[in-house]
Amino acid sequence: MKFDDVRAALDGIPYLGVDEGWELYQFVVNHRPERCLELGHAHGVSSVYLAAAMEEEGRGHLDTVDLLTAGERDPNLERLLERTGLGSRVTIHREKNSYTWFLKKRIEARSGNGVCEPCYDFCFIDGAKNWTIDGLAYFLVDKLLRPGGWLLFDDYAWTMGKHPGRMQSDGITVRSLSREEVSVPHIEAVYRLLVTQHPDYGNFEVQDNWWAWAQKLGAEAAGTDRTIRETRMKWHEREELGVND
Ligand SMILES: C[S@@+](CC[C@H](N)C(=O)[O-])C[C@H]1O[C@@H](n2cnc3c(N)ncnc32)[C@H](O)[C@@H]1O
Repeated sequence: MKFDDVRAALDGIPYLGVDEGWELYQFVVNHRPERCLELGHAHGVSSVYLAAAMEEEGRGHLDTVDLLTAGERDPNLERLLERTGLGSRVTIHREKNSYTWFLKKRIEARSGNGVCEPCYDFCFIDGAKNWTIDGLAYFLVDKLLRPGGWLLFDDYAWTMGKHPGRMQSDGITVRSLSREEVSVPHIEAVYRLLVTQHPDYGNFEVQDNWWAWAQKLGAEAAGTDRTIRETRMKWHEREELGVND
């Protein structure tokens, strides 16, 4: 499905913006991941951008996970997939408590010989924005990510304190956080303290202080360089060049 067509079908639906949608779409076109995982779909805008690019490439499947409550959103992902005809590219998973439980079950299912066989080439983490949940999610996703696979974290600099309205929608009402936990960006902590210190990961890039990328290279290829490149999202260049796709 062409980018302009998917953009038109998603017009006005939260949360992912058109520019970020373009970035996700381009990622799939450029890297052609076979199996993708998304943690946090809400209405499913990001899921549909990913699925549209897969359809355009003629390959790829997305497993996407959210809470049961995401099914009650208007529109929900089921409806967006019907509208766009992309249902065969996406499997929707919903959990009562957390995507960490989905990941537990997926690891179990992939551990026939007692060792987890990885299955994903890309994982987009756009859910709780919480140290406890996403720190664990990263550890679990790492087991499922194939060598060469990519991770993308949304909300790098997001804090509870600056976005109080999102507490409810993003499910962090389980228990109250300390004042420090409310003011500190949790995804940045997960990325800096867990991902970039993991010996297998490299190609660290933080775009617009909001999207954080890492690739699972293996310890030898990753080497000892832990530098995080700080860049702008590519859609800025696209705008500056006046490219219209
Ligand atoms: C910002 S929204 C996702 C937006 C979507 N990726 C997009 O760009 O269109 C975050 C979603 O994460 C979900 N979420 C938060 N914590 C979660 C958890 N622990 N397990 C599953 N889903 C979670 C929320 O229900 C919410 O729908």
